Formats: sequence, C-alpha cells, structure tokens
Amino acid sequence: MNREYEFVFKGFNPSREEYYGTILTLANGVIGVRGEIELYPSKYGFFASGIYDYTPIFYREIVNFPRVNGLYIKVNSKPILLANCDNLNLTRRLNISQGILYTSLECRFGKAELSYNSLRLVHRKRRNILLQHSRINLKNSEKLSIETPVELDKVNPLIPANIYIKHYEVVDMDIGGDYTSLLLKTIDNRYKVAIASKTIVLGHVEHVDKYTLTDKVVEVYDVDFKNMPIEVTRIVSISTSRETEDPLDKAVGELEKAVRDGRDLLVAEHISSWKSLWDNIKLRIDGDVEVEEKLLFYAFHLLQLVDDEQEYIMIPARGLHGLGYRGHVFWDTDIYTLPFYIAFTPEAARRILMYRYRILDKARLNARKNGYKGAQYPWESCDDGIEATPREIPLDVLGENRIRILTGDMEHHITADVAYAVHLYYEFTGDEEFLLNYGLEILFETARFWASRVEYDDDKKAYVIRNVMGPDEYHPSVDNSFYTNVMARKNLELAVKYYELALEKGNKWIDKVIEIGVTSEEVAYWRKIVNNIFIPCKNNGFCEEFEGYSNLRNMTTKTKGLGIVKVGEKFLELKDTQIIKQADVVAALFLLYDEFPKHVVEVNYKYYLPRTTHESSLSLPMYAGLAAKLGRIDEAYKLFKLALKTDLEDLYGNTSDGFHVATAGGLWTTLLLGFLGIKASSGKLVKIEPKLPEHWKSVELNISIGGRKLHLRVRKNSVQVDDKSRGEAKRIE
Ligand code: BGC
Repeated sequence: MNREYEFVFKGFNPSREEYYGTILTLANGVIGVRGEIELYPSKYGFFASGIYDYTPIFYREIVNFPRVNGLYIKVNSKPILLANCDNLNLTRRLNISQGILYTSLECRFGKAELSYNSLRLVHRKRRNILLQHSRINLKNSEKLSIETPVELDKVNPLIPANIYIKHYEVVDMDIGGDYTSLLLKTIDNRYKVAIASKTIVLGHVEHVDKYTLTDKVVEVYDVDFKNMPIEVTRIVSISTSRETEDPLDKAVGELEKAVRDGRDLLVAEHISSWKSLWDNIKLRIDGDVEVEEKLLFYAFHLLQLVDDEQEYIMIPARGLHGLGYRGHVFWDTDIYTLPFYIAFTPEAARRILMYRYRILDKARLNARKNGYKGAQYPWESCDDGIEATPREIPLDVLGENRIRILTGDMEHHITADVAYAVHLYYEFTGDEEFLLNYGLEILFETARFWASRVEYDDDKKAYVIRNVMGPDEYHPSVDNSFYTNVMARKNLELAVKYYELALEKGNKWIDKVIEIGVTSEEVAYWRKIVNNIFIPCKNNGFCEEFEGYSNLRNMTTKTKGLGIVKVGEKFLELKDTQIIKQADVVAALFLLYDEFPKHVVEVNYKYYLPRTTHESSLSLPMYAGLAAKLGRIDEAYKLFKLALKTDLEDLYGNTSDGFHVATAGGLWTTLLLGFLGIKASSGKLVKIEPKLPEHWKSVELNISIGGRKLHLRVRKNSVQVDDKSRGEAKRIE
C-alpha cells in the first residue's frame, strides 16, 4: 500500500449500529465477526465460512454463532449501556492497511467518567484467532466489573419476522481451567464448531467469577481502579470440522499458542500479512484520491472473504458480513467478483472456482432432476451444492399468503456464467493444471446442459431457449432471453474451443476428454447450436431483452437510469412494461464486448439505461463498465460514483444485512476491464485500452497475469508495464 488508509466514523446511534456492524466487519475468509461495538448488545455472533444448517423455506443458511467479543462494563453494579451515557463521544477507525478496527470512547455515567480504547482484529494469518484489546480508564469511581461472555442466545431470524431458529447446541463445555472452551454442533449434525476463549485482565482484579446460564457462559472480573487504567485482552480461537476432525483440540491448541506468543506479536504478524496482501494491489489514482480510497475500502472487504488455505472458497452474496440472502452463493461470485480475485489473488480465484467443481456432481443431479443432461448449476447454493432458492416465501405466520419465487426455476443463465468464469480465469492466469483437471469437466458438462436445454424451432429454423428468466428479475418466464442465449452460445463455443485445444495438446488432455466421454459427434452438435441459436436482435442493432419485449408498455424511469429507483414489491406489475431491474442485455454486452459491433453495443446501452431501475446493486457497475468501454466516460464516471456509495453510504438502505459483494467486485471489474481496458488471453497480457475519466492523470496498480506480477502505469495516451517478476519494463504508447 502506498500509505495508511483509514475510515473514520463518529457517533453512536443504536438504530444505525447494524449498518456499522456490516461495514466494520472483520473477517479472514474463514471467520467473520461483525463490527457492532463490543460494549453494546448485538444480535449477531460470528459466521464461519461454509458452515450452514437446515432451515425451512431457504433450505440451508449460514449460521449466526454465539457472540464471542462482547465486553460489558458495570460501574457500581449498573451496566453502562451506551444509550444511557452522557456526553458520549465515540470514534471508530477502520484501518484497512492494518486490518484493524480501533474504537475510542468517552462518556459520563453519573459522576463516573469512562474512557475506553480498543483494537480488534480477526487474524489474517492465524485463521482461527480473534483478538480484542481494550484499555479502560475510569475517573470519579473506583469499582467496576467487566463481563466477557460467550453469548449462546444468537439465532437466525426466519420469515415472517419474530420467529427465530437457533442452529447450534452445546455438546461440551469446560470453564474450570485457564480458559473457557465450548464444543457446538449444528442442529442437523453436519458440523462441529469449537470456541476457546481467554480473557487476560491487567490491573487490580479483586474477584473473578465464572458461571454458566442457559444463554451464556460468563466470566466476570471485579476490578479496583485506584486511578490506574486497566487492560483487557481477549483472545478467542474458533475452529470448525471443515478444517479438522477435532475442532476442540485445534481451537484450544491455537488459543494456547496465541496466548503464549502474546498480543504484540499477534498484532505485528497480522499487520504484516495485510501488508503483503496490499502489495498485490498498490492502487494509486493520480487525480482522484477519493475514488482511490473508496475502491480500496471495497477491496478490503473482498480480501476479507478469501484465505490461502481452504480447499474451496464459498462467497456468499453478502459476504461473511451478515445474514442477507441467508449466506447463499449466486452468479454474483462468478461474474462480478471473480475478475478482482483473478487480478490480485489468483490463488484464491482458483479456489473460488474449486467450489464450483466441488458441487459439479450436485449440478449433474440438478440437471437430471429437471430433465436435462450435463450439469445445471443451482441458482442459489450453499455448502452442499443443492438448489437452495426458496420456492415460496410466506407473508404471514400461517403461510396463508405466499409469494412464489421463480428465480430458482428459471435463472438458468448461471450455468453459462460458471463456464464463462472458468474461461476468464484461464485467460488471465493460463493455469493449465486447473483447466486440465477441473475446468474442462465444468466446460463440457455445462455445454451438455445447454445442448439438452435448447429446442429446435421449425418456424425460426433456429435453436431456441424457452421459459427462462434473464438477470432482469422483473420479467419471469420469457423465451429467448438475449443474455441467456448469448451466454449459452458462449458456453458451447468455449466447450468446442477447449475440446480442440485438448486434442492439440494430446496425451493427458486427450485422456481427460475420453474420461469425460466427450465424442466428436457431440462436439459437432455443439457447433451446430453455436452457429444457429436464435438471438433476438433486429437489423438496426437493437436487441430485445427477450422475444416480445418490444411489445410491452414503453416506459422510462424518472431517473433515466442515472439514479436508483426502489419499486419494492410492485415489480410484479412491472412485468408488463419495459422497465427492467438491472443490467441484462447490457451485462451480456459488457461480458462479450468484443463479439458485437460497437454500434450494436451503443444502441442497446442507450436504449436500456433509461429503462433500468438499478434496483439490484449489481446493475450500476455493469452500466458503468460498458459506458467506459464505449468511451462515454462522463456517464461511466457518474454511474461508477453512484455505485461507490452502495455500502459506504448505504445507498440501498440494506447494508445492515451484509456487504454487497457483487457491487464491490463489479466496481473493480469496471476499473480493470472498463476504465483501464485490460485484456488477457491464455495467461498473457494482450492489450490495455484506457478510457480514463478526464481528471485521472494516471492509474497505477499491481496485477497478476499468467503467474507474473506486473506493475501498470496507465495514462490516457500511454501505458507502462513493468514485469516485477523479471525486472523488465515496457512502454506502450
Ligand atoms: C439480483 C440477482 C442477484 C441477487 C443476489 C438479486 O436482487 O437480481 O442478480 O444475484 O440479488 O445478489
């Protein structure tokens, strides 16, 4: 990183605390701890990546585990709740360079004056460890008690509201020794999760009490101040059966090690791990510090979702930051976030795709279940890869009123999105090992799905795809969705291309093709579909979002696409209009930009922008990216700046449910593939075609392409590429 980047948030408002909970979340790809202040009760505990439990309606959901970092202070036996403090002065600083959240607070409570400073980190290197260190000072009062519990009352809310599910139970507990340890299991018995916690109090501790209640395990420290500040260090270790058969043993072992090594070492090690991560990016935008900082904020949260050890990485739509979308994985990961990880942490990108490989068998089963061949990826998935999209959502307790959700039945495009992601990964990394061992199988099996999904239409004399939903979710059950058809075509075309590559490479590549059972007849059929699939475009270049779209009521939004419009549940009525929820045709044109004449892209971009509500946060970055590619730089910048507000300014009013991962990824995709115009093929940098906003003098960053670390310095009319791995520099005018 070029300098320290810090985001400062002042003040305390209980009704806004859940918003801060999301944006101040700390995570390390394995555990996620929301950012609510430790001194105040919160309904959230921690999340463990990949740990889900059965739930009605949503099939499975990420588990809200116990809160392990609450620190509750009582002065003269009365709890200091921030809401009842006088002269409260709270500042939180999220230092993204260090990956540390600093809190400092002063407040008056009766005569007592409290000053409180803490740092919190979720360790980047020791993936089991959470550290929170607090320094507390009290004036005009000497006695104070500090409670550091493990709160076992954390639950997941169900729909309708006010019904909750607790997804875990305690199967073992030990509070007798030097630390507190618990072993939990999820209710459906699939996972075990262990917690080991130690509180170290420096100061004059008069009395320590440890006890259990039904909803918490408590440690209470009664302290006599004598005007000396006290320090409380809490180290918590969390381990799950995803990483080891004996999570309790692991959690205790890691805790003991961390306690032995001590706070200073833990902090130094953590900061240095973040430093190396940031060295992979080193973004600098000369002429726009504001955008540089904001992009790094989003990068911070994206980096928090990956680690470098797990065999596969699942990225929930709202990260390890909240319960939004129940922790389910969507196309968001493959299409929106992958370019960021490919560019800066290709190893993590590979493991994100390994999640898709891991659930390939389930995708095969899904295809079979729906009457198709090959592999059909579920629209929403969790740890086990089974379709997890709710079919219906009840609106009342008895379920008398329900909304039917059609996305799971119809958003078939996700299957092509996964294939596209495999290809993009290969283009940037040239990772043949992945392609050979995993990628080919995904590409062929997804192609087989499309080959069985298309139908031949005798009137059109073309292959068609009926009854789907494109990315625009206002229009269910349509025929020949532009996005779906062009992405399906791309999927088939890629399967043909990589089949030919495999034959060319010979030996083990051919063995692989044989193992998957791809025949030349099958490939011939794929080719036939590619050459003859119906794409709903007119002679003037305008492409209907789906067949018949032009006959719908022609309307535009009041923002003309340059702002967001929230229609809430009225979307049911929008199906008869041309208003759309998010980039759809535009998304396809961005992803497959080189495959369409510029005037076609231009015509469609201009048509759809004023008809888009951007009600999905996935929309703005795609429009921004395409506008940049088209050289409509001012508009691109405007849309980009708006998208930058998504979580930093709670643009959609739902950041409290979790971080908008796809938007964050989309913003970086807009920078990399839109404003910078980077293109790679088979692990080689092919070209950089900058389309920079007027006031951007230059953009500098590090990027990984083909296993090499490049430093780019991009100006409007020149590009300089330094190969850091080889010490070469190349200047392209
Ligand atoms: C969007 C989808 C997206 C999902 C999860 C929906 O509102 O329409 O495209 O995958 O949110 O982010």
